Amino acid sequence: MICYFSGTGNSQRAARQIAKACGDALFSINQSLRGGKAETLHTDSPLVFVTPTYGWRMPRVVEQWVEKTTFTGCRDAYFILTCGSECGNAAAYAEALCKRKGFVFGGLAEVVMPENYLALFPTPDKAEAARILAAAAPRIGALAEEIRAGKPLPQEKATLAGRLKSGPVNSLFYAAIISDKGFTVGDGCIGCGLCAGRCPLKNITLVNKRPHWNGSCTHCMACIGGCPVAAIEYKNSSKGRHRYYILEEEKP
Ligand SMILES: Cc1cc2nc3c(=O)[nH]c(=O)nc-3n(C[C@H](O)[C@H](O)[C@H](O)COP(=O)(O)O)c2cc1C
Ligand code: SF4
Ligand code: SF4
Repeated sequence: MICYFSGTGNSQRAARQIAKACGDALFSINQSLRGGKAETLHTDSPLVFVTPTYGWRMPRVVEQWVEKTTFTGCRDAYFILTCGSECGNAAAYAEALCKRKGFVFGGLAEVVMPENYLALFPTPDKAEAARILAAAAPRIGALAEEIRAGKPLPQEKATLAGRLKSGPVNSLFYAAIISDKGFTVGDGCIGCGLCAGRCPLKNITLVNKRPHWNGSCTHCMACIGGCPVAAIEYKNSSKGRHRYYILEEEKP
């Protein structure tokens, strides 16, 4: 079973490719989070978790979702982390999660895909994003082959920098940066409600047809990236940046 979480579509795209290559089912963690109920999932094939990288690790919301979900059947677990550049020592945390859940850790692989963090960093334009996506596809295909063959994914030795980024810097990052206080909406808003409907944490409500952020955000960028009229900004940093968003309808 291929379980994905995706803010702006990269991880969903990777998950779809893996599911197709492995002939396996897709499961949307976004939808499950929005549903808000504890799930019991059964699979006879390996669990493959496909997620973005947040602060050099799997997103905290995903780790918490895995913790509270009951999994029956196959105990093999793989992790594919899409990222803008690298995911540090994320593998160590995925392996520790596997120990807590009684999974057999099959390895973690990073896949470089377009940077989506427009609240903090420049994002690629359409042409550059297409080039990065095209370059990622063969790597995703090769990883799917390894998974299909039941092989462990090759793991690299963690560097000191990687350990620092995924450890203390990750904690600082969540404490200091992850907040919805910087989001604002401009007069261009057409009140379509897409931002509210897409937020995996149901953190947005429409008040007088305009989004209101309610304080429970994981900076997935779905609202700001997916607004059809680019009416949302994050402080001053998102101004003029390309809105990166390729998430398809949430239909596995
Ligand atoms: C909150 C946040 C944190 C991020 N942290 C990292 C990171 O530590 N390393 C990295 O290479 N990319 C990082 N990125 C970039 C995303 O991981 C990358 O663009 C990913 O493919 C987005 O996947 P999605 O489209 O499925 O949401 C971050 C993006 C966000 C929104
Ligand atoms: S997606 Fe954009 S236009 Fe639609 S309600 Fe949200 S901010 Fe307004
Ligand atoms: S408020 Fe926006 S950035 Fe925060 S979790 Fe919801 S969709 Fe993602």
